Amino acid sequence: MSVIRSAVTGVGSYLPEQVVTNADLAKIVDTTDEWIVERTGIRQRHKARDDEPTSDLAVEAARRALLQAGREASEVDLIVVATTTPDMTFPATASIVQRKLGCGVGIAFDVQAVCSGFVYALSVADGFVARGLAKCALVIGAEEMTRLMDWTDRTTCVLFGDGAGAFVVEPREGQGAKTDQGLLGFALRCDGAKTDLLYVDGGPATTGTVGHLRMAGNQVFRHAVVNIAEAITAAAQASGIEIADVDWFVPHQANQRIIKGVGDRLGLDENKVISTVATHANTSAASIPLAMDAAMQDGRIKTGDLVLLEAMGGGLTWGACALRL
Ligand code: COA
Repeated sequence: MSVIRSAVTGVGSYLPEQVVTNADLAKIVDTTDEWIVERTGIRQRHKARDDEPTSDLAVEAARRALLQAGREASEVDLIVVATTTPDMTFPATASIVQRKLGCGVGIAFDVQAVCSGFVYALSVADGFVARGLAKCALVIGAEEMTRLMDWTDRTTCVLFGDGAGAFVVEPREGQGAKTDQGLLGFALRCDGAKTDLLYVDGGPATTGTVGHLRMAGNQVFRHAVVNIAEAITAAAQASGIEIADVDWFVPHQANQRIIKGVGDRLGLDENKVISTVATHANTSAASIPLAMDAAMQDGRIKTGDLVLLEAMGGGLTWGACALRL
């Protein structure tokens, strides 16, 4: 049976220039490099300049993805930006990205599912592409999480960083089989009863301020391992694949101990798990495409590989997606 699949034809990413090390943070809060590395695996994070909004990171990542796909900005007819840190309350960051890239009129909007945003955004783009509503989509995860930090709170400010990653998604004919190129299946979840475990204490309709990120780290940690493992299993099932078939796991990069906990639970070969948390920290919706691009640039992930993405974040939201490159 012939089906239209949404294929990932280009991947790109961008990190702002400034690097903030654990030692830098130890100068402003009561922490140490040893504590951060041992509990999280994070050694450094990138930080955007004051005059460098989220849309600038998104545009750079998108340009690189378009170059890899061999597409021009003028061909882009759908932009979905997953972000928790939009340039402004409105318009959508996707609209600003469309203008800055010079795409012309098309469809553009943001998706807000915090750290799970990229997987959610991919599923949205899949709907447009597979139904013939878009022929050249940009799915972008772009975040400046450092803008949401309370720099006096050592339990959160050491965990996050800024960056952006992008996929170009285009239609390809498939057979409805697991050997098809493209997005094969998803599992998406939200448990709104747990909004109080990870949130920002501000917003336009409450405080009228941007607010700061607050987190019950221990509880989020406990939910993460169990929930992510379940979503990975469900996404594999929806895609008609076995976990053992997967060439590469590209997890959300929040904490090396979460990545390892999920891997152990599912019996994953750790050599197949991509980890960039040491150098990127948690870049929320940007972390998956950033990690994916890093592993494609160094030659690990190649065309034809079966890749499983997973994420978890505020909401609480979580999800997973299997795709063949
Ligand atoms: N430096 C030094 N000490 C720190 C610290 C820091 N940056 N942050 C917290 N501590 C202290 C705590 O104050 C606590 O001290 P106390 O025992 O005197 O009260 C101690 O370390 C242990 O805190 P705890 O929260 O139990 O540590 P933990 O092992 O759970 O690690 C996290 C904390 C945040 C690293 C961990 O819970 C975590 O990664 N959670 C998931 C977070 C996450 O990934 N969220 C995003 C999902 S998208």
